[in-house]
Amino acid sequence: VNGGFFPAVPQATVLDGRLSVLRRAAERAGVPVIASLNGCTQAGWVHFARKLEQAGAAAIELNFWHIAADPDETGTEVEERFIAILRAVKAEVSIPVSIKLPPFFSAPGNMAKRLVEAGAAGLVLFNRFYEPGLDLHPVAPEADAQLSTSYELRLPLIWTGLLSRRLQTSFAVSGGVNSGEDVVRCLLAGADVAMVTSALLRHGSGFLSTMLAEMQAWMEARSVESVAAFKGQLAAHGTAQAAETFLRDQYRRILSSTPAFGQ
Ligand SMILES: Cc1cc2nc3c(=O)[nH]c(=O)nc-3n(C[C@H](O)[C@H](O)[C@H](O)COP(=O)(O)O)c2cc1C
Repeated sequence: VNGGFFPAVPQATVLDGRLSVLRRAAERAGVPVIASLNGCTQAGWVHFARKLEQAGAAAIELNFWHIAADPDETGTEVEERFIAILRAVKAEVSIPVSIKLPPFFSAPGNMAKRLVEAGAAGLVLFNRFYEPGLDLHPVAPEADAQLSTSYELRLPLIWTGLLSRRLQTSFAVSGGVNSGEDVVRCLLAGADVAMVTSALLRHGSGFLSTMLAEMQAWMEARSVESVAAFKGQLAAHGTAQAAETFLRDQYRRILSSTPAFGQ
């Protein structure tokens, strides 16, 4: 549900349509249905969150989508607004509330920690923005949505690996999960959930069975019997300093193993 980003469409119509899809999905899906909410005013976030809970959502994901285009707006102000929204929504609903975060914070780990302290039941890393391009013929903004590739998985994977053992919450990776092996990568980093959109748009919903089969093949090839046996295996478990040193080492390895980067 987009709570007010698209003013050209009468809000009531959009909301009613979304709520009826949610109601039917919650009744028929046979699995918990999590509603994703993208608001722009605190009153809007709270109002729509209540509606989603009433329509049968098992949990709500708050999709924090904000472009800090005002140079006078500080990072602290943005962060405090996010936390205030989480608190306000949590005060109104009794179902779990998770947060889908953008990666653009000076200190994403600290932001994540404060959201967990404010009651986030899960963190979704990360929101994927659809930046408009620039068409030159004619000169105009170019609005073409690009589906993801597995390469994009690296950023959410790093942050999930850095945070999953440090923060007591559920982690979902979103962005770049395009194969069963990508799901294995998410689990190794300590994720509880791997979210998939582009792969299903590209290949259809039946691709989920392919992904599961790929996961199972990986596990069987290594005689791994359960997800629990490898979940979090590659998550950072030492000091923050050790994690930074590890990432710096990987950076050096990447540079030295890439011929085009030279000596
Ligand atoms: C057509 C399309 C519509 C999307 N709509 C939403 C949305 O309404 N809310 C949201 O949080 N994310 C939305 N997303 C983003 C996805 O939830 C997801 O974060 C993103 O696509 C990255 O995952 P992927 O690599 O599996 O595509 C949308 C993605 C696509 C491709």
